Amino acid sequence: MRVTTTGTSRTVLVANQKGGVGKSSIVSAVAGMVAAAGRRVLVVDADQQANVSSSDLGVEGDKGRGLSMALQFAEPLTPTREVRPNLDVIPGGPALAVVTSVAATAQQTGIDLQGNLTRTLNNLRETEKYDLVLIDSGPGDAPLLEALLGTARYLLVPTKDDDASLSGVELLATRYLRARKSGSQIQLLGVVLFDTNPRATARNREVFDQVHDLLEGSGADPFETFIRSDRAAAVDLRTRHLTPLELVEVAESDQKNRLKRLRQKGTAADRLWSRDPSGLAADYQALTREILSRVANAERDRVDGGAA
Ligand SMILES: Nc1ncnc2c1ncn2[C@@H]1O[C@H](COP(=O)(O)OP(=O)(O)OP(=O)(O)O)[C@@H](O)[C@H]1O
Ligand SMILES: [Mg+2]
Repeated sequence: MRVTTTGTSRTVLVANQKGGVGKSSIVSAVAGMVAAAGRRVLVVDADQQANVSSSDLGVEGDKGRGLSMALQFAEPLTPTREVRPNLDVIPGGPALAVVTSVAATAQQTGIDLQGNLTRTLNNLRETEKYDLVLIDSGPGDAPLLEALLGTARYLLVPTKDDDASLSGVELLATRYLRARKSGSQIQLLGVVLFDTNPRATARNREVFDQVHDLLEGSGADPFETFIRSDRAAAVDLRTRHLTPLELVEVAESDQKNRLKRLRQKGTAADRLWSRDPSGLAADYQALTREILSRVANAERDRVDGGAA
């Protein structure tokens, strides 16, 4: 029997309680790629820092108030629409801080953060017909992470190659297994190595194998794509609120206009730090392909296994 899965079930949570491992950068880059390819994407910024909505995508937003109300009272979510063609955003921000105290008193109040979020996100996905929903989560913030692990279908874990970041992966794996035990349908898509040296191939292979061993029994593999280190591009992406694809375009026109600007004595403020962000953009493109293909395979397995 052929069952058609709707794109609406495609919700990917990007998480690692360790800070600074590329969660927000990956959400922004992948969302930008998928939207530029003509598919509808929703980014949910579930982080008080609001890095992905405010810094990466440049959305002013409501400081996380809408998402906080959805979590507490299942109030309908209203996204900031078309921040790029095909790309909507639920902004994050400090209003999400209340979630921790709400979770602490959940037994007395009966507030079901996870149930509320699942219901409101499902309603939004149904009306808006998103092809992909990407949820960015902050470092720490265990109660919110728990609700997100109960809501999302897929989990993507970015990590750097240092021991502290890899311990973060282990910690998250434990939370992930706990969420599944309590009935969550979430499935680990894989681990992606972030901020790697593209020339350190032996080292990268070693870490890849280490992550592979770490994931033993989870049913997931590390992603083949590594996101290379490019600090200059990272600065430009955040300060100019650009996706990697947009930065490539800006850098190309910047090169063309260099002579003109030199003659006009352009200021340092309008100078790009990165000369050629195309390598980084190519990494994100390859990662996006891998993510979409793993999601498609997982959805097919669910249908075949009758779990759609
Ligand atoms: N390709 C890159 N190479 C080096 N640094 C990068 C790269 N991309 C992003 N960065 C920088 O690395 C830092 C961490 O990235 P990011 O904010 O995406 O991580 P995060 O896991 O979301 O952090 P947090 O836990 O604080 O939310 C940021 O300062 C970002 O500008
Ligand atoms: Mg972040």
